[in-house]
Amino acid sequence: MARLVIGNWKMNGTPALLRAFAAAALREPPRCEAALCVPHPLLAAARTAFGTTALRWGAQDCSAELDGAFTGEVSARLLADLDTRYVILGHPERRLGHGETDGQIAAKAQRALAVGLTPVVCIGETAEERDGEQTSAVLRRQLLQLARLLGRRLAAVVLAYAPPWAASRHGCGDCVAPGLLEDTFAAIAELLAFHAGLSAASVRVIYGGSVDARNAGALLSLPGIGGVLVGAASLRPADFIEICKAAARCGDPPVRAASLWPVIATSARE
Ligand code: PGA
Repeated sequence: MARLVIGNWKMNGTPALLRAFAAAALREPPRCEAALCVPHPLLAAARTAFGTTALRWGAQDCSAELDGAFTGEVSARLLADLDTRYVILGHPERRLGHGETDGQIAAKAQRALAVGLTPVVCIGETAEERDGEQTSAVLRRQLLQLARLLGRRLAAVVLAYAPPWAASRHGCGDCVAPGLLEDTFAAIAELLAFHAGLSAASVRVIYGGSVDARNAGALLSLPGIGGVLVGAASLRPADFIEICKAAARCGDPPVRAASLWPVIATSARE
C-alpha cells in the first residue's frame, strides 16, 4: 500500500484552484495515494476536475446520522454519491472549535465506513496536555472509543496524528522534533496493538502539522509514518506535487506487527 498524502483545504479553495491542481496532476501524476479534502460545495467540481487524474477527493466532516431532521449536517451517503473517497473526522478544529467528542467522532467513522468512505480520524493532544505529560492518556482515550465501536472495521480507518499545537497557523514550522514524533508514533502503534488486536497492523497512521515541500521527505522517512495530512501547503499545486514526490520516493510504509490478542479481548481488559 503506497504512502498517503491527504490535503486539507479547510474553508478555502475555488473551482479554479481545483482545475489548477488537475492540470498539475496531469503534468506530473502523483505516484502515491493522494487526495484533496475540499469544502462540501466543491466536491462535485472536484469529481469533474480530478476524474481523469490520479488525484482523489475527500470531505472534511459528515454526520453520524443517515438522514433526517439535522439542519446544516451533511450525510455521508451523499458524499459517497459524489464518489468521495475520504472524509476527515475529528480534526482539532472540530474537536476544539465545535466540542466534538470521541463518541461522536467514532459514530461518524462508523457511518462513513458503512457507506464506503475511508475515515481519516484525527487524534492528538493539546499543548497543555502535552506539557502535562498527558499525551499517551489522551491518545488512548481517543483511540479506545473508536476501537470499541468499530471492532475489526478499524483496519479500514486512517489515523492522523495531528496535534493542534503543530499546525502551521500557530506558526509552528519545524517545531515537532523528529525524536518526539518517533516516540509518539511508537506509542500509537503500541496502543493500536493493545486495543485493536489483529486490526492494528492494517491501520494506516499519518502525521499532520506544518507539513510542507521542504520537510515532507524527512517526515515521511520516519519509522511508522504511513503518510501526511497537509493543510496550508495543500493549497499550492507545486508544493502538493512536491510532497507527493517525496511520498513516492519513500515507497511503501513498513508493516507493523499485530498483537495476537483478538479485538474481542479489548473490552475484557478495560
Ligand atoms: P497545516 O494544517 O499543514 O497548515 O499545519 C494541518 C491541519 O490542521 O490539517
